[in-house]
Amino acid sequence: MAQEVYEITRNIEERAILVGIDRARADGWTLEDDLAELGRLADTAGASVVATVTQRLERANPRTFIGSGKAAEVHDLAVERGATIVIFDDDLSPSQQASLEELLKDVRVIDRTQLILDIFGQHAVSHEGKLQVELARLEYVLPRLRGMWGHLEAERLGGGRGARFGAGESQLETDRRLTRRRISDLKRELATVARARETQRTARAASGVFRVALVGYTNAGKSTLLNALTNAGVLVQDQLFATLDATTRRLDLPDGRAVTLTDTVGFINKLPHGLVSAFKSTLDEVREADLLLHVVDASHPNALAQMAAVRVVLEELESSASPQLLVMNKADLLPEHERARLAATPGAVVIAARSGEGLDALLARIAAIAAQRDRSLSVLIPYDRGDLVRMAHDNAHILSEEHTEQGTHLVVIAPGAIAARLEPFSLETPNPITLHPTEQRHNLPQD
Ligand code: GTP
Repeated sequence: MAQEVYEITRNIEERAILVGIDRARADGWTLEDDLAELGRLADTAGASVVATVTQRLERANPRTFIGSGKAAEVHDLAVERGATIVIFDDDLSPSQQASLEELLKDVRVIDRTQLILDIFGQHAVSHEGKLQVELARLEYVLPRLRGMWGHLEAERLGGGRGARFGAGESQLETDRRLTRRRISDLKRELATVARARETQRTARAASGVFRVALVGYTNAGKSTLLNALTNAGVLVQDQLFATLDATTRRLDLPDGRAVTLTDTVGFINKLPHGLVSAFKSTLDEVREADLLLHVVDASHPNALAQMAAVRVVLEELESSASPQLLVMNKADLLPEHERARLAATPGAVVIAARSGEGLDALLARIAAIAAQRDRSLSVLIPYDRGDLVRMAHDNAHILSEEHTEQGTHLVVIAPGAIAARLEPFSLETPNPITLHPTEQRHNLPQD
């Protein structure tokens, strides 16, 4: 139901007018930045922008968001340019949306959230991704059902205002009930999918493998980096939100250690809250990672504000305190002095994922950080626990191995989770953090 109604911008004939209001703000973004990004979103969704309208306002008009005179201006412009859709940069309340549609007659009115939901709908590939997008859409649609179905009721009942309201309300109630039911079905189904994902994650955690997750603003180059490092074959497009599904790949580091690297959905300024919660299970990969690589398009004029927007989402995910490495990407597009300045920033690595520049240094930094979690242990494993010896061979660095009368004596350098499982067989007081002899200690970079 909502699927049909909300796939509004799929039609490539769509001609859009963008509307933004200019008001005092302290987040580093200007109205021009916002509208440029809204234009990129519209383009990604398949609409071409035919005009942009702005208004200086301290507070949105409760009925029409912009002033009524401005709304009339948008109407005239829509007629003149043959616009089919008007996209507001800020969230519209259901009643503002309904009033504006009434004013703008045949032109559909949507807001930024709805546009992002639409793009997510177009790009969702996996079963889980599709369920998450449908849930976010329906939660968005639920309070707006009245506006959506009102005109159908009018057609069905052929006028008669009183009759329309009486019967319309009950139809509306049915729609709301069906939507609520679908929302709870979706939540249940997602919980089942999330459990399967949880099992995989628990298995990865138990294996002691160090987990790295890529985070970053949309279009920063996360998928390009994942592909460059692991040959993952993930879709790379110069589009916003090309990747929605979390992809996890094995990454072999120069010191012989294998870690996992996960690419996740890109973040964006004003990312709809409903989307963050709908994508919660995908984003658990971020929450539980041992290290976040915050990938930044360093060539973007708004790079700093984009980094701040990513931090806001990380806070929402309660991941802002996780260890992070700032990966300044697209260095090939920067002038030499800018590269040098970034390279001197503590905790940052400068790379160009597309050409492979700087990737060796990045891998060495990841390896050094992973090594900080390692512990050295001397253990005596009884012969009936051959499983632990195998586990150590698969996941730890064996410094020596000796078969004694009581069991296998191993001296190992092991990742934290593996060390914890070997600990009960330790021959000495554990040494909390000992680095691999060939590694140098690096302080965890802060971004
Ligand atoms: P989302 O899926 O939107 O989150 O994007 P993403 O962060 O995964 O970005 P993606 O890897 O899809 O890259 C976005 C665009 O940036 C593509 O056109 C890439 O070719 C381009 N790109 C990525 N890395 C580099 C780079 O090092 N240099 C240049 N010049 N372009 C790059």
